[in-house]
Amino acid sequence: MKIAVFGMGYVGVVTAACFADDGHDVVGVEPAAAKVEMLNAGCSPLVEEHVGSLVQRGVAAGRLRAVTDGRADLRDADLAIICVGTPSAADGTVDLRFVRRVCEEIGAAVRERSEPIRLVFRSTMPPGSMRGIVLPTLIASCGAPAGRHFRAVFHPEFLREGSSVSDFREPSKIVVGADDEGDARATLALYPPTYAAPRITCSLEVAEMVKYADNVFHAVKITFANEIGLFCRAHAIDGHEVMRICCADTKLNLSPAYLAPGFAFGGSCLPKDLRALLAEATRASIELPMLEGVLPSNRRHLERVLELVAARNPRAVGLYGLAFKAGTDDLRDSPFVELAERLLAVGRRLVLHDRGVHASRLMGRNKSFIDSRLPQLSRMLAEDDAALSACDLVILCHRPPESLVQRWTSQGVALLDLTGALREVDGDAWGSLR
Ligand SMILES: NC(=O)c1ccc[n+]([C@@H]2O[C@H](COP(=O)([O-])OP(=O)(O)OC[C@H]3O[C@@H](n4cnc5c(N)ncnc54)[C@H](O)[C@@H]3O)[C@@H](O)[C@H]2O)c1
Repeated sequence: MKIAVFGMGYVGVVTAACFADDGHDVVGVEPAAAKVEMLNAGCSPLVEEHVGSLVQRGVAAGRLRAVTDGRADLRDADLAIICVGTPSAADGTVDLRFVRRVCEEIGAAVRERSEPIRLVFRSTMPPGSMRGIVLPTLIASCGAPAGRHFRAVFHPEFLREGSSVSDFREPSKIVVGADDEGDARATLALYPPTYAAPRITCSLEVAEMVKYADNVFHAVKITFANEIGLFCRAHAIDGHEVMRICCADTKLNLSPAYLAPGFAFGGSCLPKDLRALLAEATRASIELPMLEGVLPSNRRHLERVLELVAARNPRAVGLYGLAFKAGTDDLRDSPFVELAERLLAVGRRLVLHDRGVHASRLMGRNKSFIDSRLPQLSRMLAEDDAALSACDLVILCHRPPESLVQRWTSQGVALLDLTGALREVDGDAWGSLR
């Protein structure tokens, strides 16, 4: 395959060198003449393990070269891979000027093509950039709709500097976002079966967002480990051993558990233990800014639901589920009890239903908690879920059976889903009112 790679930075050089090594005919397009000269002399313009030898081999074999002007190569290339920089602007937003410019150059260069060129965008861009900037710029520059002279996909790059060649060869995953499944599959086909990794196709926006979710997750993981390490050091505990044991748990810790967007956490352990750790840290004069931000962030999710309810202004609100976990009657620190409290405080009429919660059977600390927080519970708690049909809005705190959702939908009851259950039924998104 004849491939043009735009942008000879870290991502572009590694991509060009690896695809040349796979047997493709690769040209690197780069405005910096010094980088082009180095590449054509068989030298890597960047210091990175294995890249030097790959570049040397590719150039010697005649499969890798570089140019400052890619127009001639775009006439007959099968594929162009765009790896230009997307640096931060002074205000933290992403400067997309290089992306815009490369789209203008490519669009103008492909307007004479009878066969569309495949354009694979690898530069990291905020979600919506492909649809809002890349595609319109290409269309304006080539003077024809997408599909005539080009077909574009977004294919985020996950390699890490320092191990970029092995990350390219053994990727953690291969993700392609496209409007057309055929375009996504054609991009995946760039990687023969030796690239053993999960192959995922999705929308342009999801692919763009995955890159940010990944990098932010890595940043959060590092900060978490550092804050736990700081706390441990102040208490003469081996933080490395603590984190090693944490990471040995692949059921609850390093797993998809607790990693689906949803509602605020609560219950008798998470808020209590977080508060305890923060109080101990304060006593030891340690600042843990990320962990200190967790409870305020958690609270924000509750506020958001209150705002959504206020915007709808229903006469009566139903809560399907009240205990902090479905199938239990543990109401202590349940975020849904707090939600009920806050709704009552602003004068909403409430109907509550939870299959596991029966006012007459509550006892011990569970009963004293609810007596202090929601003394009117027994008046609002309905034994039968049919009572919720009288509400004009039902908040799904627990997952309802599909038959109940259908019943409410047919009765015109609006549903606010905090569980993700509706998303699985009909693709509705979290938090939407319908
Ligand atoms: N560096 C990484 O580890 C890494 C990993 C994954 C994703 N990314 C993302 O990939 C993109 C590229 O990153 P990088 O570190 O390789 O960037 P970089 O800044 O090192 O290199 C970008 C190159 O693009 C060139 N360029 C600019 N305009 C051009 C044009 N019109 N035509 C051709 N070349 C042009 C620049 O001269 C530069 O050499 C960024 O969006 C980055 O966020 C980087």
